[in-house]
Amino acid sequence: MTRLSKLISGTMTWGEWGKNLSSSQMISLIEQVYDAGINTFDHADIYGGYTTEETFGNAFKNCGIKRENLFFISKCGIQYKCEKRPLKVKHYDYRKEYIIESVENSLRFLHTDYLDVILLHRPSPLMDIDEILEAITLLSKQGKIKHFGVSNFTPVQMELIQKEIPIEWNQMECSLTNSEAMFDGTLDKMQASNIQAMAWNPLGSYFKESNEQNTRLKKALSELCEKYKTSENNLLIAWLLNHPSNIHPVIGTTQIDRIKELQKSVAINLSLEDWFYLLEISRGHKVA
Ligand SMILES: NC(=O)c1ccc[n+]([C@@H]2O[C@H](COP(=O)([O-])OP(=O)(O)OC[C@H]3O[C@@H](n4cnc5c(N)ncnc54)[C@H](OP(=O)(O)O)[C@@H]3O)[C@@H](O)[C@H]2O)c1
Repeated sequence: MTRLSKLISGTMTWGEWGKNLSSSQMISLIEQVYDAGINTFDHADIYGGYTTEETFGNAFKNCGIKRENLFFISKCGIQYKCEKRPLKVKHYDYRKEYIIESVENSLRFLHTDYLDVILLHRPSPLMDIDEILEAITLLSKQGKIKHFGVSNFTPVQMELIQKEIPIEWNQMECSLTNSEAMFDGTLDKMQASNIQAMAWNPLGSYFKESNEQNTRLKKALSELCEKYKTSENNLLIAWLLNHPSNIHPVIGTTQIDRIKELQKSVAINLSLEDWFYLLEISRGHKVA
């Protein structure tokens, strides 16, 4: 495999921020995710309070997959108040030295010489594009990062960065229950500028909250599950995949059966009307 898989495995809850998987459980999960056809893992320096990259990295080192067959994404820029960093306040840091230090930590923890993609985790009102440019240029020259992108940036914030640095990816929140990025210009801007899309929380609030929107969706999805002979989670992911901006959903489950099931969503072609039907049900109103 030479490209990022369509589905990306998110590691946010693999460690201290969720399932607290042991090293052997992580080894087995990395191998099973890979065998299921997913070659890309999404990290951030802060996951698990700055601990999950390291536990994942130790597991990766002991699993049977070669580095060149995998893609590692990581993010930097959030200074998160936790045991490892007893800060006064959570904040963002995009100073040159900090970006470099953060990437170098990620490399060390993940037992790798390079990150396939580095993302600026969240936009900061104080980011200085020249400093970011210097850091990214140096890290690229050194071969420590292959591709550059952002996360949670608005169209205008992407334009600001693009004045100096070509953006290859934006990782944004997007799902059937929160489809703002399709309507606030984010995905339009990305398509217009050839910025590739990753969507976090791709299942939205569907399995996380019980509310009116999800009650409406439950009924519509169960009807479409019959028609497409599939599951609700696959329809939620297929709805994103049927958007023309080539969205790569970053899936968060740590359960291999769910991961294997979600892989089947890649083959689902929703009809035009069914796509809009789900949109209408989710938003509770017709398109104009
Ligand atoms: N860039 C950013 O700012 C940002 C922010 C948040 C997250 N992320 C990335 O996005 C990844 C995914 O985020 P997410 O966890 O919100 O994604 P998600 O795939 O939408 O949700 C996954 C969660 O739903 C649960 N779930 C319940 N029923 C499920 C079912 N039938 N099928 C699948 N999952 C089910 C999973 O629990 P089980 O594990 O028990 O299956 C898991 O906790 C994270 O790991 C992280 O890498 C990025």
